[in-house]
Amino acid sequence: MIVSALFSAVLIHLLARLADLPIQYVIPGCVHGLPANVASVQSREEQAPLIAPSQWSFDPYPDKPRITFREDGSFKLTIFSDIHFGENPWDSWGPQQDLKTKGLMRVLLDVEKPDYVVINGDLITGENTFRENSTTLIDAIVQPLNEVKVAFSSTSGNHDTHVNITREEEILRETSVSPFSYTRLSPPSVGGSGGPGNYWVPVFEKDTDATPALVLWFFDSRGGVYHDGTHMPDWVDSSVAEWIAVETRTMDAVWGSPESRSAIAFVHIPPHAIQDVQDKLNSTTNAGLNADKLGRGSTQASGDPASSGKDSAFWHALNSNVKNLRAVIFGHDHGNEWCAREPTYDVIFCFNKHSG
Ligand SMILES: *[C@@H]1O[C@H](CO)[C@@H](O)[C@H](O)[C@H]1NC(C)=O
Ligand SMILES: *[C@@H]1O[C@H](CO)[C@@H](O)[C@H](O)[C@H]1NC(C)=O
Ligand SMILES: *[C@@H]1O[C@H](CO)[C@@H](O)[C@H](O)[C@H]1NC(C)=O
Repeated sequence: MIVSALFSAVLIHLLARLADLPIQYVIPGCVHGLPANVASVQSREEQAPLIAPSQWSFDPYPDKPRITFREDGSFKLTIFSDIHFGENPWDSWGPQQDLKTKGLMRVLLDVEKPDYVVINGDLITGENTFRENSTTLIDAIVQPLNEVKVAFSSTSGNHDTHVNITREEEILRETSVSPFSYTRLSPPSVGGSGGPGNYWVPVFEKDTDATPALVLWFFDSRGGVYHDGTHMPDWVDSSVAEWIAVETRTMDAVWGSPESRSAIAFVHIPPHAIQDVQDKLNSTTNAGLNADKLGRGSTQASGDPASSGKDSAFWHALNSNVKNLRAVIFGHDHGNEWCAREPTYDVIFCFNKHSG
């Protein structure tokens, strides 16, 4: 597909649009339920079973700086999505697009000065990569982020896995070439076949706070092609639903009431429930480009009619376990940038268009 150097949703823009929707998008200050010393692995183990205790400590980033709000209580996220590095390396336009995307990232990072950056999937056009050097494209992607030393993390998209590349290889490369990456691999039993990119990142109001005010959730909607050329499922696996339940139970036990925390979720392929919403958009309240008609392959579990409904375990678990979920943000459908309220769970959906 042709990828042009347009930029996508910067969250400040997103927030402006969310404010037009009939809720107030507010990240509340944190009300601290429990003292700091409660936040130990010990209490986690007493309160909730762990899926893989040896792989998964409750403070996921003991060696990294905490992500925090600014002094004025604000927190700015910038999202890049579907940047598709490495497309058609044998032509001149592919490498040119990558240079333009890097230029755009540099300009936006300079103008926006975000507190955190999300790359929401399809970092690399995997089907155009070579076995011997496929993940070196990651080095180019993280360069603008490394230059300004901004914390970031990524989700994986359906193009991030193909014969010559896997999302796991991309994640390991990303974390090895950038100390600012907060991307993690799920515990081994979570994510289903080929979907290791499920994790969360705590954001604190103040560096000294015992508990986070905001949790950023990242999910792996898989899709793409395995090494042997067969297709990978295109939905968040049901093992992630169980994991969400365990993680949120543990958060509540260790950090206290979920009412004191907000959440935002990121996933590359939109949940299937978005499809019905598209027909009911109002161009005033759901402003933004709406150029991609959603159909087969546009949403989770839609590539093969036989897989219909397979993202519902994840979708239900996310909405029933994660309290104060402010928005679910996804890419994949490059021509869409609208937000809308999903009627079943009363949650805000947002497309983040594409930025590469
Ligand atoms: C995978 O990489 C090999 C080695 O560079 C290359 O010959 C082959 O064409 C690539 N395969 C695909 C499907 O891109
Ligand atoms: C990867 O290797 C191929 C051929 O082996 C080369 O044409 C291409 O430019 C290389 N790509 C990168 C990103 O180094
Ligand atoms: C769209 O929303 C605007 C603002 O709320 C409202 O005035 C208008 O009637 C709506 N249009 C339709 C077709 O519902």
